[in-house]
Amino acid sequence: MPPSMSFPAFLALVLCSQLFRSIPTPTISFANQTVIVTGSNTGLGLEAARHLVRLGAAKVILAVRTVSKGYAAAEELLASTKATKDVIEVWQLDLSDYASVKAFAKRVEGLQRLDAVIQNAGIMTLQFKKVEAMESIIAVNVVGAVLLGLLLLPKLRETAERFGTRTRLSFVGSDMQYVAQCREAQGEGSAFEKLNEEKGAAMDDRYATSKLLLLYAVRSIALLSSPQSGSKSSVLINCMTPGLCKSSLFRDDLSFILRTLQGFMMTLLARSTEVGGRALVDAVRPDLGEETHGAFLMDCRVADNGTSVDSVEGKKLQERFTKELFERLEEISPGVTSVLH
Ligand SMILES: NC(=O)c1ccc[n+]([C@@H]2O[C@H](COP(=O)([O-])OP(=O)(O)OC[C@H]3O[C@@H](n4cnc5c(N)ncnc54)[C@H](OP(=O)(O)O)[C@@H]3O)[C@@H](O)[C@H]2O)c1
Repeated sequence: MPPSMSFPAFLALVLCSQLFRSIPTPTISFANQTVIVTGSNTGLGLEAARHLVRLGAAKVILAVRTVSKGYAAAEELLASTKATKDVIEVWQLDLSDYASVKAFAKRVEGLQRLDAVIQNAGIMTLQFKKVEAMESIIAVNVVGAVLLGLLLLPKLRETAERFGTRTRLSFVGSDMQYVAQCREAQGEGSAFEKLNEEKGAAMDDRYATSKLLLLYAVRSIALLSSPQSGSKSSVLINCMTPGLCKSSLFRDDLSFILRTLQGFMMTLLARSTEVGGRALVDAVRPDLGEETHGAFLMDCRVADNGTSVDSVEGKKLQERFTKELFERLEEISPGVTSVLH
């Protein structure tokens, strides 16, 4: 098992980030650009979409699992930004239903261009539940997210080549990856199978583990699709964290004591989703540098990956997990990983 960051070190990192780092309001133009934001009917995704509209994007696609919620969000965005109706589109996407992910990617093929994707949709729960024969947090935050990213890579590449630009693909991870225990990955055997066992499932660690596994996958994908140094037409891929933000991410019922504790922590430390949304937009800004490719971004800068990634054990686990993930993705969508070779 890779060594995770110690709790005091994690606490110091989070306190420093939340209390002393400011996230600047993005000002760079997204004129002529088409951007997809998943999970954008609420929370961080909605606020990122609002910034993108304000920054002049030609088209912002709200990729949402419930279309009626997407239209309500679009109405609210139009009212708050005074953008014209044609700028915002609402498309259905459910990361827990791989047929929906494939249908979404098929629809993207019809776009004239795709400049950036913010893969923001995600879940956090303590309940063990299966979707697509997989534990739901892993199915949505890792498998669904990476499947979508790979299926959209060809369009991002085509746009980059056609317009001689850099297109961007960012996955929303979490600082929780630093303290992921990843207990299921211990020992031999399939990590997926162990993550799928309800009995003894470490659901208190599952969200953090999902974000670490996502970071592993993003790093591997980035490595296998590195832009040629100095090339102006390529796809930059990263994993970012917006930091702790006040949103409806945690939707489980909590006891009174836990709810009060959570509320206290949020009030003291958390950013607003508007501020977190700035960081999402920053991770796909048009002038993003090559140094961000394959990196973990925190507070709008390249951050340490952490020991769970950089240790010898972390590197081994990344290799083992990504191999298994790619095999799983090939079963879901044959040929999907061929974009990486
Ligand atoms: N808030 C934080 O402190 C924090 C910190 C670090 C990272 N993050 C990450 O930031 C991202 C956004 O979270 P948030 O805080 O804005 O939470 P949120 O308000 O709960 O938003 C999550 C979004 O994801 C969507 N979603 C959930 N399951 C989906 C699925 N199967 N298919 C498609 N969309 C789905 C939700 O749609 P519905 O509304 O229809 O459920 C919602 O739009 C997540 O990846 C989260 O892990 C959040």
